[in-house]
Amino acid sequence: MSIQLHNLKAQYARLKDPINARIQKVLDHGQYIMGPEVAELEQRLAKFVGVKHCVGVCDGTTAMMIAMMALEVKPGDEVITTPFTFIATGEMIAILGAKPVFVDIDPDTYNLDASLIEKAITPKTRAILPVSLYGQCSDMDAINAVAAKHKLAVIEDAAQSFGATYKGRRSGALSTIATTSFFPTKPLGCYGDGGACFTDDDALAARMAQIRVHGQSKRYYHPIIGMNGRLDTLQAAVLLAKLDTLEGDLAARVRIGTRYSQKLAGAVKTPVIAPGNVSAYAQYTIEVDGREQVQAKLKEQGIPTAVHYPVPLNMQPAFASLGQGEGTFPKSDYAARRVMSLPMDAFLDEATQDRIVAAVRAAA
Ligand SMILES: Cc1ncc(COP(=O)(O)O)c(C=O)c1O
Repeated sequence: MSIQLHNLKAQYARLKDPINARIQKVLDHGQYIMGPEVAELEQRLAKFVGVKHCVGVCDGTTAMMIAMMALEVKPGDEVITTPFTFIATGEMIAILGAKPVFVDIDPDTYNLDASLIEKAITPKTRAILPVSLYGQCSDMDAINAVAAKHKLAVIEDAAQSFGATYKGRRSGALSTIATTSFFPTKPLGCYGDGGACFTDDDALAARMAQIRVHGQSKRYYHPIIGMNGRLDTLQAAVLLAKLDTLEGDLAARVRIGTRYSQKLAGAVKTPVIAPGNVSAYAQYTIEVDGREQVQAKLKEQGIPTAVHYPVPLNMQPAFASLGQGEGTFPKSDYAARRVMSLPMDAFLDEATQDRIVAAVRAAA
């Protein structure tokens, strides 16, 4: 069988019966929009994460927009974030007319360097938006301390870290609001688009739930501006079926990630998991010299790889107006030139992993 970056077919094969049964139930009751599965999922996810509220939404990008709208991030506000992330993070700040203020990363975890945040705070700063990249949380205690000192909100972009823990607490329960994505290849993925927002704050939860349905208080009455940000009932049904095996999947990801690191030690830079962190390993990402050649050699052997991410946000043409070219965030630039993700999911067997390891060792 060919090797995949994330083996979604193996996942469905294992859970085929419960997933099909859950989908069938939705087809039978026919409540495709905000059906009972959405509320059931929200309750279970809130409990799993350890927060009071979960608001299911249509994807992880919209989740960030809804979170920032609920926090009343406005045009002219500044939001501090990392340049080394998926475009969605900076994009949603910009779409609200706010300015992403990038701060360089810790070169080991690839997450926002908390020690650089305070220098970036101005009177316009409204929030800090750390991303838990590749499945590992940022130093949230340090980030929350700076935020508290300056009375700022913290939004964790937990799109890649659902299920991860930081000092024993789940990703998603470490900030004013957290957002996640259920994109199919994420640690908890659905079979289309999906996402969620998490918070302990009753008022913010109510506001996010309202924004998700066009800002309505009751049908066709709209006190605030919102959008169609709803999570599909069918996607909620898929996620409910998958929740039962999530803990086991997360443990498998940690086992597989740790085994990769043991077997690749000395040949490439393997992921550095900070003390107190358990990663959800959304990606298993190494650093190599001559990345393109390494990727080409692996491809010849049928081993897919990916680069998350080749161009930091400050260097994307979409953010050219910020005037922050190459060299502005040297650690982020360096990582962008060298990182490479290997196949990773809860189903990677040892023989396949050994094949990947041998090929990486020979190519790097
Ligand atoms: C860090 C990060 N933020 C946000 C998102 C956006 O999530 P979605 O694709 O569900 O909109 C992703 C998805 O890949 C992501 O990796």
